[in-house]
Amino acid sequence: MEFASGRVTFPETRFTPRAACGTLESSEFSIVNFHQAKARLRKRVAMELKRYPWVLPAATVLSGVATLFALDRSAPALAVVGVLCLVATAYLWGFSTRAFRPPRWPSTSHLQRREYGAVWDTLASSSQAAAFNASGRRSEQEVRESAGPTLRNLSELVGITVQDDVLEIGCGVGRIGRELAPLCRLWTGSDVSKNMLTYASERLGQLGNVRLIQLQGEGLSELAGSSFDVVYCTNMLAHLDEIDRWYYVRDAFRVLRPGGRLFIDTIDIESGEGWAMFVQGSCPALESARPPFMPRFSTAAELKNYANRAGFPQVETHNRPPLVILIARKS
Ligand SMILES: C[S@@+](CC[C@H](N)C(=O)[O-])C[C@H]1O[C@@H](n2cnc3c(N)ncnc32)[C@H](O)[C@@H]1O
Repeated sequence: MEFASGRVTFPETRFTPRAACGTLESSEFSIVNFHQAKARLRKRVAMELKRYPWVLPAATVLSGVATLFALDRSAPALAVVGVLCLVATAYLWGFSTRAFRPPRWPSTSHLQRREYGAVWDTLASSSQAAAFNASGRRSEQEVRESAGPTLRNLSELVGITVQDDVLEIGCGVGRIGRELAPLCRLWTGSDVSKNMLTYASERLGQLGNVRLIQLQGEGLSELAGSSFDVVYCTNMLAHLDEIDRWYYVRDAFRVLRPGGRLFIDTIDIESGEGWAMFVQGSCPALESARPPFMPRFSTAAELKNYANRAGFPQVETHNRPPLVILIARKS
């Protein structure tokens, strides 16, 4: 790995396409679906417990009372059930108290939003922090599973083939690149944060067709024109100032080859879910400080405007709440 003139590069030494036409295989979908269903259930239970925080303490007290009652009445079977319930509810109570404690974010209040490199290096001070702040997931397995929805959207809306040279803008720790690189010819991950790229290089080091590039944060001036078939940006645009969103769409047009496809997803403030996230705050613990990485949501019209003005002749948007997805093609 090199850090010459702000670039981190893997030589293209190995090329091992996994799927013939770049779409995900159905067995992969079903594994991803199972894990997603599990994650959805976990999220649902957590939401209900957050909404009714008295349930577990009440269940623990009730179990204790029932146990005492059973002992008083010399009912050993009931006492055993009571003790088991007491242990289970007390454990869940303690566990949920710890799990729902708001994360301690490193301070970025001395930084402005457009000091992207410094902000995101601060958020990526260790490999765990980098993975969590890029994906909201803690374990490697969860990080990998969380790529599923973006991969499906990419596969369905732009299609990725083994002939494609693909660029991700704001790649973080390579959450998507880890899964996408085996499906395309060359996957280039670009990011403003040197720390994120360092951890991305650790995660993706074993893949031969991966290249990582450090950006200045305001466009793609580091990249040659007409050098990619697909440019995508996921889970990133909301962190940018509007002018930098425009610079990236404008530059995506420049670096795409004729026929190239652009994919951008971001949170849609016009969707019901997006609006709820906007009103409630994506992380209530941060609301009062409004730190520089706090997401700012978009509309389909905003994304279409950038793409039209950049010169894309074909522009469409798709609603996948809470996301709006821009697809643009260069002729
Ligand atoms: C929430 S993370 C998402 C990472 C990745 N796209 C994913 O979904 O796993 C946002 C990423 O955007 C990067 N980023 C923030 N501002 C940027 C900018 N102006 N230019 C390029 N990357 C930027 C951050 O360093 C971070 O890695």
